[in-house]
Order: sequence, then structure tokens, then C-alpha cells
Amino acid sequence: MRDLRDFHTAMRLGVLVMFVGLLSACGNTTDEGQAATETYLIKFPHVTAPGTPKGRTAQRFKELTEARFPGRVAVEIYPSSQLMNDDDSLEALAFGEIQMIAVSLSKFDRLTQAFQIFDLPFLFPDLVTVEEFQASPAGQDLLNVITDKGFQGLAFWHNGMKQFSGPNPLRMPEDARGLKFRIMESDVLQAQVQAIGGNPQKMALGEVYQALQTGAIDAQENTWSNIYSSKFYEVQPYVMETNHGYIGYLVAVNPTFWQSLPDDIRSGVQEAVAEATAWGNAQAEAINQQARGHVEESGRSEIIELTDDELTSWRTAMAPVWEQFEANIGAERIEAASSL
Ligand code: LMR
Repeated sequence: MRDLRDFHTAMRLGVLVMFVGLLSACGNTTDEGQAATETYLIKFPHVTAPGTPKGRTAQRFKELTEARFPGRVAVEIYPSSQLMNDDDSLEALAFGEIQMIAVSLSKFDRLTQAFQIFDLPFLFPDLVTVEEFQASPAGQDLLNVITDKGFQGLAFWHNGMKQFSGPNPLRMPEDARGLKFRIMESDVLQAQVQAIGGNPQKMALGEVYQALQTGAIDAQENTWSNIYSSKFYEVQPYVMETNHGYIGYLVAVNPTFWQSLPDDIRSGVQEAVAEATAWGNAQAEAINQQARGHVEESGRSEIIELTDDELTSWRTAMAPVWEQFEANIGAERIEAASSL
């Protein structure tokens, strides 16, 4: 199935290269008068609920953009995997069927190894440190690493730090042995779960609740806002407050679409993205803490806080993952991020 999909994607991307060439040629013939009356639609599907950091920031972006260009630019947001899952949205964006995405950095793994740094366990202690790295020259370079593959990065949006949830209290890495963990489409996350003796299963977010409910998987890792809004706390008796990794997004547009926009719209949309980014990233942590509070109040799931010694054991068990991916990511980049 996977191979077929990859083949299908490769074929589509092959066609895309020809299609992009044609479109670019057409774009050059657009005259100014036509551009001033043209209307533009930005279709923006994503997988999380409207109340999550991504859901709220996308909505803010829509409001800012439409207020700036009334009647000229419309932004259609499709939350909660309503239109498609993330894997399909990567393909749809590259193919120009949708215009904007905010997909978890972990899920670009088949397109670039450059984002693997964001998945290294216990590299970033909190969102402030991630933001510092993303704002640095090394971080800003990452916005452009997959432009040639059909993704122009405009910004990074935060979700939050990840927690494990499971059928038992996972106080020590040994407690995870033999459990089936849902992970995002990332080889680093696969290695991370293998490092603690778990069995990693790559799966789309929209399928996780049912997989937990039916026992197809035993455990998962996600942010408080996703654990709450996707209702994982209803079917996972324990959530371990590990903060062992980061979930954030690359906000990207199709480069051909982007270049085809009139200059005033392109710069106005870019400004709306920047404004929404600052607004959303500033409240991501609070949204996650609020979600943590809701999980706690629900009484459906017990929150396990780990001691410093227990956290050190997780850190030690997962440390080999850094070495495993050092050649892909670059020792200097890891050093730059870990010294922040
Ligand atoms: C996941 O699949 O768990 C996350 O990527 C969801 C998200 O977009 O926050």
C-alpha cells in the first residue's frame, strides 16, 4: 500500500514539474489590470480542532487576510481532518490543489531530513528555546529547504511539548516495553520508541482515537491540546508529563501559486502570516496548559508527574537517537540548538 502510494506520489510529482513550468510561463503574461480585479482563494486544510493553537492561529490568519483584502482574497479553513489528512495535504499542496498548509515538522520526513532536529527527544526544553532556534539564521534557513519540492515555508507555528499517554503509569522507560505506540510519520520518532523497547506505528491523527479505543495501539505521544481536543484522555487512563519533544508546524504555500500572486497581495498575506504567527505562538503554551487542566478535571485520565530521576532515565534511554541521526541533521546544527 505504502509503496503504491509512493509510486503514485512520484508520478504526480513528475507531472507537477512539467505543470509548474507551464504555469510559470502563463504567470508572466498576466497584466496589471487583470491582476487588480482577480480574486484569490486560499484553501487551507489542517488536522487539529479549531480550539488548538493551530486552529486558532489559522482562523486569526484568515481574519487578518480577509480584512486586508476584502472581496479580493478569501481564506477557507478546513480543520479536524475534514478535507484531508496531513499526508494527503502534502501531496495536494505540491500539486497546487490547495494553497496553504500547516503540517507538523515531523511529517516532512520523506521530503527532507533537515527538520529531523525538531524530533530529537529532550533537545528543546520548552517553546521559548524552540522559538529562539527557529528565529536564528540556522532556523530561518529551514523555511527554504524544500522550495524546489513544492513547499515555500512562510513561518513556524507552535503547538507545544509532547506527553506520553498509555494504559499504565509509565514512570520508567522499561514500563513502555512491548507497547504499541502511535507516532507521526517520522523516522526519528520511530527510533525514539524503539529506544524504549516500544513498537512504533505510524498513523494519521484522525485514526488514533479509534485505534486506542479498540486496542489496535496501546499508547501515543502528543501535546496537551491534542490529547484534550482529540479526546485521547477518554481512552488512555494515564498521561505522563514528560515534555520529551516538540510539535510545531511549517506553514507553507505552493511556490508557483505564491509567485503568481500580485506583489501587493503576496506581501499583504505574508504580513498577515507574520502577525498571526506572533499572536498564535505567544499563546500556544497557555492553550496547552488550559487543555491540561481540562484533562485533569475530567477525572478520566490520571496525570503522572515524573521525578527528576525518572526523567533522567527517559533522557538516557533515548540519548542514542541523537547519535543515530547526527549524520542526517549535522552535528553543528544539533550543537547550535542544544547550547541555547
Ligand atoms: C499529530 O499527527 O499528532 C500532529 O501532527 C497533529 C498536529 O497537527 O498537531
